[in-house]
Amino acid sequence: MRKMEGPVVVLTGAGVSAESGVPTFRGPEGLWRTFRPEDLATPEAFARDPVLVWEWYDWRRQRIANCRPNPAHRVLAEMEAALPDFTLITQNVDGLHQAAGSRRVLELHGNIWRVRCTRCGRVGEDRRVPLPEIPPRCACGGLLRPDVVWFGEPLPPAVLEEAWEAAARCRWMLVVGTSALVQPAASLPVVAHRNGARLIEVNVSDTPLTPLADEVLRGPAGEVLPRWWAACARL
Ligand code: OAD
Repeated sequence: MRKMEGPVVVLTGAGVSAESGVPTFRGPEGLWRTFRPEDLATPEAFARDPVLVWEWYDWRRQRIANCRPNPAHRVLAEMEAALPDFTLITQNVDGLHQAAGSRRVLELHGNIWRVRCTRCGRVGEDRRVPLPEIPPRCACGGLLRPDVVWFGEPLPPAVLEEAWEAAARCRWMLVVGTSALVQPAASLPVVAHRNGARLIEVNVSDTPLTPLADEVLRGPAGEVLPRWWAACARL
C-alpha cells in the first residue's frame, strides 16, 4: 500500500455494476452467453431488425432502471471529490457512476439512456421504461437508435482522446471489473503501465492484465474497493 500522489485514472467495466444487479457480458451469467452480439449489438443487426434490437435494449433498460449504485460506485465518486487530478473512464452504458455522484465520467461506449436519430443526428435523453413505441422515432420522423457504441463502430473520438491522454500521464491506474478483452479500452491500462503508472486491478478473477498489475485486489469491487480506499486515506 502506497500513498496516492499525482494523477489518478480509474477504468471500469461491467463488473463494477455486477453487485448492483446489472448483468455482465462474459462469464457464467454474462449476456453474451445467452445472446449473440452480432444479432443485437452491431449496425448490421439494427439495419436488419430494428425492432429486435430495440426490444433487447428496452429489456436491458428495464433491468438497469431497477438497479442502484453500489459501494464501489460510491467510493469512486468519493475519490473524485477527494483527489485533485482524477479521471473516471467507463465502458459501462448504465449511468450508475453518475447516479452515485460522479460528476465527470468519460463514457467510452455511450449511454443506454440516450437516443440518437439515424436521420437528423439529434441526440436526446429518454428514460422511459418500457418505451411506449418500438422502434422509437424522432420528431423528424427518423428512426432513433440507442446512443451506444456497437461492435464495428468507432468510439466517440473526443472521449477516446481524453481517455488516452489521461492514461498516458497518470501515476495511478485502477482497473475495476473489466475482462480487458475489448479494444481499444483494454489498451488504456497497458499505456499507463508502459508510462510508469502503478497499475491496480480490482476483479473477482484473473484477466490478461493481471500479470502487468503492481497490486491485485481480488474480490467483489463493492467490498474490496471501499476497504482499499479507507486504507489509503489512513496513510
Ligand atoms: P465483461 O463482462 O467482459 O467482464 C466483466 C468483468 O468483471 C470480468 O473480468 C469479471 O471477472 C469481473 N467481475 C464480475 N463481477 C465482479 C465484481 N463484483 N467485482 C469486480 N469484478 C467483477 O465486461 P467488460 O469488460 O465491461 O461493449 O466488457 C467490455 C465491453 O464488452 C462492454 O463495454 C461491452 C461488451 O461487449 C460494448 O457493448 C461495445
